[in-house]
Amino acid sequence: MQNQIKVGFESPSNIALIKYWGKYGEQLPMNPSLSFTLSHCKTLMEIEYTSSLDLELDFYFENKINNKFKEKILKKLIRFIEIFPWIQNARFVIHSSNTFPHSSGIASSASAMSALALCLVELDQKINNTKYIDSNKDFLISKLARLGSGSASRSIYKLGALWGKVDSLPTSSDEYAIEYNQIHSNFYNMNDAILIIDGNEKSVSSTAGHELMTNHPYRESRIRHARENLNKLMDCLIVGEFNSFADIVEREALDLHSMMMTSSPSFILLAPNSLYAINHIRQFRSSQNVQITFTIDAGPNIHVLYTQKDKEKVETFLNEHFLKTGIAKNIIWDQMGPGPKVL
Ligand code: DP6
Repeated sequence: MQNQIKVGFESPSNIALIKYWGKYGEQLPMNPSLSFTLSHCKTLMEIEYTSSLDLELDFYFENKINNKFKEKILKKLIRFIEIFPWIQNARFVIHSSNTFPHSSGIASSASAMSALALCLVELDQKINNTKYIDSNKDFLISKLARLGSGSASRSIYKLGALWGKVDSLPTSSDEYAIEYNQIHSNFYNMNDAILIIDGNEKSVSSTAGHELMTNHPYRESRIRHARENLNKLMDCLIVGEFNSFADIVEREALDLHSMMMTSSPSFILLAPNSLYAINHIRQFRSSQNVQITFTIDAGPNIHVLYTQKDKEKVETFLNEHFLKTGIAKNIIWDQMGPGPKVL
């Protein structure tokens, strides 16, 4: 066994078009989800490993010791011991940083947990000389990432990913995500401008949010709906048809928020300016005939999706109507990306 090893990866965030909302068992999804991988919003992580009697961790976030994050990561590492027993006898020094601003309301769990999974599988290869077949390696990384945070399972592939068992896709699984690349060229380099309506921490954590689905009165219809939306979306992605794509993606985001509004307890995470932005985006699309739509995660910020074809027109609109007016406190300009990279 080698003694001192250093590994590093950068891993991106992703934006779900079909949302993962509700889980069962060990972080398994109630319904399949599909996402585009982002390019600029990412976590950079370096891990220094030495063998040790017990599991030990020093965690630096943006070059400062961070004990809050340390506790979170320690819990995940303990969970991974079942898969990698050597973690019990490891001392880790982790340096992590994000490319997106702190209080942007952008969840960092997908990029951080996928970066952690990539680093640990790389360490396993180096420590134990483990040999993987390519797709098995991806599935293992995705599975570890999933155990860290469900949405992280989808961050390890370029362009698009699908997580959850779908009968028409034989390699799909609830345990890990698979690459999803049946995407028409009209959607290549799809842009995602994130309107930061409110950068504060979410009032309901994703984990608490997922729990609300367990006894939700609309649980079964939500699961059916998500599956129907996924099938329709996959058809649109293949043929490159934008209007149906927009219709499905928007209804899927609003479905997620409807679930939160009708949960017990109930949460309204959309802010007045989120609704203002949604209405303006829809008006702009119908009056100018541009390929623009939106999706929303569990918060007030709006992900504005638009194709390369209308990039200039849309970006002028977003700057004029949302940034200059203060409706958005900031805009994070992102787009579909190439997936993780070794550091
Ligand atoms: C609304 O992956 O953050 O962004 O598995 O509890 O860590 P945990 O939840 P998380 O949930 C993300 C929910 C979502 C939709 C999505 O990304 O699919």
